[in-house]
Amino acid sequence: MPSNISNEAPSEMNSPTATSAKPDMLISILARMTMEEKIGQMSQYFGHGEPISEHLVQSIRQGRVGSVINEVRLHTVNELQRLAVEESRLGIPLLIGRDVIHGFNTIFPIPLGQAASWCAETVKQCAHISALEAATAGVNWTFAPMIDISRDPRWGRIAESLGEDPYLCSVLGVAMLQGFQGDELRKNGSIAACAKHFAGYGAGESGRDYSTTNIPENELRNVYLPPFKAAADAGVATFMSAFSDLNGVPASGNKWLMTEILREEWDYKGFVVSDWESIQQLTTHGFSKDNKNAAYEASNSGIDMEMVSSTYLDHLPELIAEGRIDIQQIDSAVNKILQLKWQLGLFDSPYTDASLLPTPLNSQHLQIAKDAAIKSCVLLKNDKNILPLSTESLHCVAIIGPLADDPYEQLGTWIFDGDSQHSQTCLTAIEQELSGKANINYVKTMETSRSYDQTNFKQAVESAAAADVALLILGEESILSGEAHCRAEIGLPGCQEQLIDRIAATGTPIVLVIMAGRPLTIETVLPKVAAVLFAWHPGTMGGPAISDLLFGKAFPSGKLPVTFPRKIGQVPIYYAQKHSGKPATEAAFVHMDDIPVHSPQTSLGMAATHLDTHFSPLFPFGFGLAYTQFSYRNLELSHTTLHIGETLTVRVLLTNTGDTDGEEIAQLYIRDLVGSVTRPVKELKDFKRIKLAAGTSKWVTFELSTDKLAFYDRNMQLKTETGQFHLWLGGCSQSGMQGEFEITDD
Ligand code: GLC
Repeated sequence: MPSNISNEAPSEMNSPTATSAKPDMLISILARMTMEEKIGQMSQYFGHGEPISEHLVQSIRQGRVGSVINEVRLHTVNELQRLAVEESRLGIPLLIGRDVIHGFNTIFPIPLGQAASWCAETVKQCAHISALEAATAGVNWTFAPMIDISRDPRWGRIAESLGEDPYLCSVLGVAMLQGFQGDELRKNGSIAACAKHFAGYGAGESGRDYSTTNIPENELRNVYLPPFKAAADAGVATFMSAFSDLNGVPASGNKWLMTEILREEWDYKGFVVSDWESIQQLTTHGFSKDNKNAAYEASNSGIDMEMVSSTYLDHLPELIAEGRIDIQQIDSAVNKILQLKWQLGLFDSPYTDASLLPTPLNSQHLQIAKDAAIKSCVLLKNDKNILPLSTESLHCVAIIGPLADDPYEQLGTWIFDGDSQHSQTCLTAIEQELSGKANINYVKTMETSRSYDQTNFKQAVESAAAADVALLILGEESILSGEAHCRAEIGLPGCQEQLIDRIAATGTPIVLVIMAGRPLTIETVLPKVAAVLFAWHPGTMGGPAISDLLFGKAFPSGKLPVTFPRKIGQVPIYYAQKHSGKPATEAAFVHMDDIPVHSPQTSLGMAATHLDTHFSPLFPFGFGLAYTQFSYRNLELSHTTLHIGETLTVRVLLTNTGDTDGEEIAQLYIRDLVGSVTRPVKELKDFKRIKLAAGTSKWVTFELSTDKLAFYDRNMQLKTETGQFHLWLGGCSQSGMQGEFEITDD
C-alpha cells in the first residue's frame, strides 16, 4: 500500500447515491492527480488475456487505466491490481468489469426467464450467487441489470431483459442490483452493479439491435425510464449509456439523459460508463464529425468513463486546453469513479483471495439454480392434465429433439464464464427419474435447432409410435438471441414444426418443452400438442428442473413477463396498450376469410384490428397455468372514493380449488379511465406469490397508495389525477375480479 494513502477506512457509506462525505483520502488523491492520471481513471481498457500486454502494463504504470474489462483469470487480475497499486505513482486500484448477467460459473435462467418467476427473492439470490462466484475471479463490477423495457420479441436482447412491464421490471431490476451489491459494497463477494442501457434501447425500429429509437418524452417517462429511476433510487453503483440514437441524439452523447434527467432531476451520485466503443460510434451515427468531437459530446453530456475506445485519452487533454471542457467536469467524473473504488474497499484490499469466498458451482449454488429454473418455467398448455406425468402408468417415453441433451444451448446468451460441462440436461435428468420405472427412446433427430435435415425423422417417428408419450424438447439455440441476434420471423427455427407434424401423426400425445430466448409464434403448433412447458434458456440445472416439473416433483408457477404474439405482424403487442379511438372488439373483428365478395370499402369492423389475425395475443402478459386451479372470490375495496394521498386496501379470497398444491402469482392491475394524456387499458401495480395447499384459501391483500397511480402528464409533471379507476385482481393481465374506485379532490 503506497505510503501516501492512509489505511484507515473512513466511515462506511455503501451506496454512491447516498450523500456520502468524500473521505479526505480521495480529496488528497484528486488534488495530486495530473490531468493524464485523471483522464486515465475515465478510461476502461479491454484486457487481452495472458500474458498482459506490454501496452497495458505501461498504461497502468502511467496511470492511464481506471478499469479493465474482460479479464477473469485471478492471478492475472491480481497482477493487474499489483501493477496499479504498487507500480503507478498514486497506487489507485482498478475496477475489474465483466458481464455477469445471469450467472458466472453457475448459470441461472436467462433474465427473461428469471422475470417469469415474478419472484424478487429468487432474482436477488441468483444475482448474489453470481456476485460471489465472479468475485472469486477478482471481478468487482458487473454490467447488469439490463432493465430495458422490451416489447419486441424480434430483438435478440429481450432475452437479457426483465420483460415488457415497467413495474415488474422495476421490482426485479432492483432485486437484481441488490443481489449483486449486497448490503455493503465493500463486503467480500459484493460487486458494483450497472443499470443499462440508458435509455430506450429496447424500442429499436423493426426489432433490430442498435437501430434508431423514436420515443416521445411522455412515453419515455411513463414506460422506459421508471426501471432506471427505481435502480437509481435503490443505489445502483453505475449506469451504462445505450448504443442507440434516441430521437436523433445518441444516448452516449445525450446531455438531456445523462445530466438533466439522471443528475439534475434524479440527483444520481454514481457514475456513467459508455457502452463498448459507443463514444467512438458517435461519429458512425453521424452525430460527431470525428473522435475529438465525439469525446467532447460524450464528456459534456455526462459520460464519466469510456469503455474500450480511447477518445477520452486521445482528445480530452486538448479539449480541456482549448477550454471546451471544464476541468470541474473532469474532476467530478474522476471523483465518482474514485468514490466507487473506495466504497468497494479497493483502496484497503485491492487483491482477491478466492479462498475467502464460496467455491463456485457448489451444491448450494446448483440447488438455487434448479429452484430458479423451476420458478421460471411457464406452463402454457396442459390438455386433460396430461402433466404431471405419472411414472406408474408410463412404460415407454420417447425423448426427441435437438435441445434434449445439449448442455451448452440450455445455458442461454451472455454466459462468458459458464461451462457446459456442468450442465445437467433434460435427457440425463429424465433418465435418472425414470431409471427402473420406464424405458426411454431418445432420438436427437436434428443436429441443431436450425437444421432442415429430416434424415432422422423416421427414427423419431418410430420412437414416438412405440411410446406412451413423446417428450419433444425443441426451441432456439442460444446464439439466436442476445446482442445483435435478432430475428424477423420468430417461429420454431429449422424443420422443428415439420417434426411436430410427423410425431403428431403417430397419435402419441406430445408434451412440448421449449427452450428459447424470446417468445415464439407457436400458434400453429398448439393444436398438435397436449402440453407446452416454456423453459426459456433455463441454465446449468435446466434438466433437473424440467424433469421435476414434468413428473410432478415440483409444480409450475411461472407467469409470462412478456406477451406472446400469434403472428409477428402483431408486434409490437403488449398488454398495457392505449385504448385508441376505435378499439379492437370481438364485434368489430372480421377475418379476411369471412369477408363477403365485393364488400363495400366501409363495411368492415372499422376498428384497430388486422384482417388476417385475431387482435388478441397468443398468450397474454401474466399468463401461466398450474397443476391445480385457483379461484378469486370476495373482492373487497376499502374505499369506493378516496383522496390524493390516501391508500386503498384491496383484498380477495384466493382458493386452491384443485387437488394438488400450487403457487399462484396474484396480480393487481388498474386502469385510469380518463387522463390528461391517454392512459393504458391496464397497468400492473402490484403482485404477490402465494403458496396454497390443495383445498385451502387465503386472503390476499394489497395496499395501493394514490402515488402509485401517478404518471407524467402532458406537461411532463408526475401527478396522480382525480377521476374514475377500474381495478382487476387475478392470475393474469386478461382475467381477474373487477372493481372500481374514484379519486376525488372535493
Ligand atoms: C456490449 C453490450 C453491453 C455490455 C458491454 C460489455 O456491447 O451492449 O451490454 O455490457 O458491451 O461487454
